[in-house]
Amino acid sequence: MEGVLADKLLNKTARIAVIGLGYVGLSILEAFAEAGFPVLGYDCDQEKVDTLREKKSYLSYLSPRSLHAVIEGKNAACSTDPHSLEGIDVFIIAVPTSLDAHRVPDLSHVEDAAKLLSHYLRQDQLVVMQSTSYPGTTEERVLPLLQSEGLKVGKAFYLSFVPEISDIGNPDFSFGKIPKVIGGVTETCGKLTQILYEHVSEHVYLCSSPKIAEAAKILQNAYRLVNISFINEMKIALGRMGIDIWEVIGAASKKPFGFVPFYPGPGIGGDCIPVDPYYLVWKARETDSPTSLIERAGDINAEMPHYILEKIKDALSCDHKALADAKVLVLGVGFKKDVNDLRESAALKILLLLQQAHAKVSYHDPYVPKLIPSGRYPLSMESVVLEYSNLKEYDCTVIVTDHSFYDWDAVLQYSQRIVDTRNVLRKQDTKVIKA
Ligand SMILES: NC(=O)c1ccc[n+]([C@@H]2O[C@H](COP(=O)([O-])OP(=O)(O)OC[C@H]3O[C@@H](n4cnc5c(N)ncnc54)[C@H](O)[C@@H]3O)[C@@H](O)[C@H]2O)c1
Repeated sequence: MEGVLADKLLNKTARIAVIGLGYVGLSILEAFAEAGFPVLGYDCDQEKVDTLREKKSYLSYLSPRSLHAVIEGKNAACSTDPHSLEGIDVFIIAVPTSLDAHRVPDLSHVEDAAKLLSHYLRQDQLVVMQSTSYPGTTEERVLPLLQSEGLKVGKAFYLSFVPEISDIGNPDFSFGKIPKVIGGVTETCGKLTQILYEHVSEHVYLCSSPKIAEAAKILQNAYRLVNISFINEMKIALGRMGIDIWEVIGAASKKPFGFVPFYPGPGIGGDCIPVDPYYLVWKARETDSPTSLIERAGDINAEMPHYILEKIKDALSCDHKALADAKVLVLGVGFKKDVNDLRESAALKILLLLQQAHAKVSYHDPYVPKLIPSGRYPLSMESVVLEYSNLKEYDCTVIVTDHSFYDWDAVLQYSQRIVDTRNVLRKQDTKVIKA
């Protein structure tokens, strides 16, 4: 491919700005910096930029050392100053796409970012949208904010959607090992984006439009929501028959084809699986399309913390104790193993339900020193200091997040009663209730 931008992308002189330095944006920034591109990280949150400049990391999975390699590199910087966006060749949007209290998509961050970029848009620039959203977002919501009479997409500037697919904190799936799916608004948009991402990924897959790439991302997340909710429903049904779902999954997995194991838990968290499928649900209403399976799966997921609460009650009743005034310790509040990400974490709902039931509730998490009250979760708590021998002071220990940090043998040895939502203790012991 020829052209000013193609040349810059091929010889890695294109200046890349990542808009939004969260879980996703920082990984992208790191990948392109390591590939040798000059990079700028832009975020509207001064505290985050200051933290990065102070050589600290706000993400448990990204070590300050690996971050500094990016931030201190001579071709890297981070800023909250919009003027720093002048002279940029590639903008990558990685801002949040959440739901409001009524599960309606909130695209305000994406639109704010697009409006900001429109001030700096000029000939021969590429804009890549990496925030997850419903099919149509890139062309229906982002493009109109960028395109003008003088600047036409595919001719003056270029626009693509590249879904962020990551298993944050999992060293087996590093950024470069996960295939990048690309949907360009025009063929040239797609090809230029392909040149760019081939520098940071072993596999790049070009599809025919942004809509396909947007829908692919939502399909992946709806698939996980439906299947994990299904296995949680099976857990409850089989549990009432005295059958252990974990053992059943082990046996069912012996089938060498047509069965992919999913595992139960306290409820799916994170900003993707419990959130993104509702973007599709919302969009599908335009065409009167049924999405009841996805919605039912979301409802089952929302019910899981209530189910865990019932299991805690069962554990306490073994000692003829009630929830009110019982001392309960929750181990792990991150939404998944070894991360400090609390978004949509089932642990928050479980803590809230325990408080509302007047239990004397505490938590421990090696990655989350304190909980700050927010929206749906007005929790103001500090992580206790964990001495395993002190677990006997609690009436019940609830394992919510299976951080590698924990010594499970010690948890088993010293706890009076245990509710295990992750099957980490595996071995049967009368003091353990699997949930
Ligand atoms: N976290 C994941 O594992 C994951 C995985 C795949 C896809 N995604 C998607 O990627 C996107 C980003 O997710 P995240 O987890 O990195 O979010 P995040 O909340 O961790 O980070 C987003 C950052 O964007 C900044 N921001 C918000 N509005 C801005 C604006 N107008 N200009 C500049 N900065 C702005 C925020 O201050 C924040 O630092 C979302 O669409 C999410 O659904 C996330």
